[in-house]
Amino acid sequence: MAKLLTIHGGKPLTGEVTVRGAKNLVPKAMVAALLGNSPSVLRNIPEIKDVDVVSSLLEIHGVSVEWDKETGRITMDPAGVKSALTAEIDAHAGDSRIPILFCGPLMHAIGEAFIPDLGGCKIGDRPIDYHLAVLRNFGAVVDKRPGGISISAPKGLHGAKLELPYPSVGATEQVLLTAVKAEGITELKGAAVEPEIHDLIAVLQKMGAIITVQTDRTIRIEGVSEMRGYNHIALPDRNESASWASAALATRGDIYVRGAEQRDLTAFLNTYRKIGGEFDVVDDGIRFWHAGGDLNPLVLETDVHPGFMTDWQQPLVVALTQAKGVSIVHETVYENRFGFTDALVRMGASIQLHRECLGSVPCRFGQRNFLHSAVISGPTPLHGVEFDIPDLRGGFSHLIAALTAEGTSTATGLEIINRGYEHFMAKLEGLGADVELTERDR
Ligand code: EPU
Repeated sequence: MAKLLTIHGGKPLTGEVTVRGAKNLVPKAMVAALLGNSPSVLRNIPEIKDVDVVSSLLEIHGVSVEWDKETGRITMDPAGVKSALTAEIDAHAGDSRIPILFCGPLMHAIGEAFIPDLGGCKIGDRPIDYHLAVLRNFGAVVDKRPGGISISAPKGLHGAKLELPYPSVGATEQVLLTAVKAEGITELKGAAVEPEIHDLIAVLQKMGAIITVQTDRTIRIEGVSEMRGYNHIALPDRNESASWASAALATRGDIYVRGAEQRDLTAFLNTYRKIGGEFDVVDDGIRFWHAGGDLNPLVLETDVHPGFMTDWQQPLVVALTQAKGVSIVHETVYENRFGFTDALVRMGASIQLHRECLGSVPCRFGQRNFLHSAVISGPTPLHGVEFDIPDLRGGFSHLIAALTAEGTSTATGLEIINRGYEHFMAKLEGLGADVELTERDR
């Protein structure tokens, strides 16, 4: 049986939602628990799929994992860490992108790792060449096999001088999780410096790591031979916060996002204000609302931190379909992150995609065959359609668009949303959305 979501749109979303720990930090901090010689405790855990996947991968490697969903607290004890059966690891093929980050910690713990084929959203090619290159520089031997990669360090892992061609979040995390216990000093130039990276560094420092972040995207790590467990509260999910903020704007609603953190949303809040959205930062969250009247169009470029994050782009594009005038969005992080606009166009939006870099700076995707700039003209009334949720952020955008639209929409593929938005249906209902989940034959 497949789940079918029926959405009756045209009603502002109003009320309160709570965001918990960031999807793009929590699973990685869980992987770090493998580096300790005593149990680690991570708090503020959201109920999302990546947490299930990483819990299971830790467990099949002998780590005991206790997840108290009531309090959102996970305790991980690596005392019994051991090799796992390839078949058990393989059961997670295609589930998530996080398994690639097990390489360093598993090599430190048991001398080898088998990593299943990765999953994650289809928003571009998403290669792992940077990951494999840095691992080889640490002294790892990588063997690509059908169904995954096998990796080992017969001569141990040693610090290295590294430089990333692009400030990749995942590759920076790969370096951190490997270098902290590699012998000697690692210097990484061109590192990503997203808030989730800083939170992972905080976790590793609690465990005993010595890590320095310089202002020029250089990170220096002095390897240590022993690390202990940590106790940490995960930073809140800024991408979920920005998604609900965009939902408030598109539906002309008013949403208090408990847990939203201003410090990690600076670029988003500036943009929100320029479009005509209102917000009020209070002690334990941020209230976002549509102030009435027309929204303003704008020219926007996604970028690595501290720029406007790529994950904020899709939900905000829905609000831009309701702005008066022409907006331009240049996506510079992923080459293929505008596929979701097809469904918006079917709903009545006016969006043209272009191969050219329609931004202030040419990006890596210019002069190639990627439709990575969007021109959005508004305001356009939207109407209900049938759609299948394509990926996490694109899917959220479709759902906001359906809630903005007059009439009824139906959506399949809701399980993708649960990868990054915990208790999604309950939150929608709490905000007054007219939605209904039913089962139907495939
Ligand atoms: N890249 C390579 N080779 C590599 C690694 C990355 O070419 O080996 C390229 C990618 O193809 C992409 C760019 O570098 O064009 C940036 O990718 P990055 O490695 O930074 O992304 P990621 O670590 O795979 C994380 C988040 C994404 C978020 C990006 C950018 C997680 C699990 N995922 O992905 O989140 O968009 O950083 O900030 O942390 C989402 O939450 O919906 C999501 C996709």
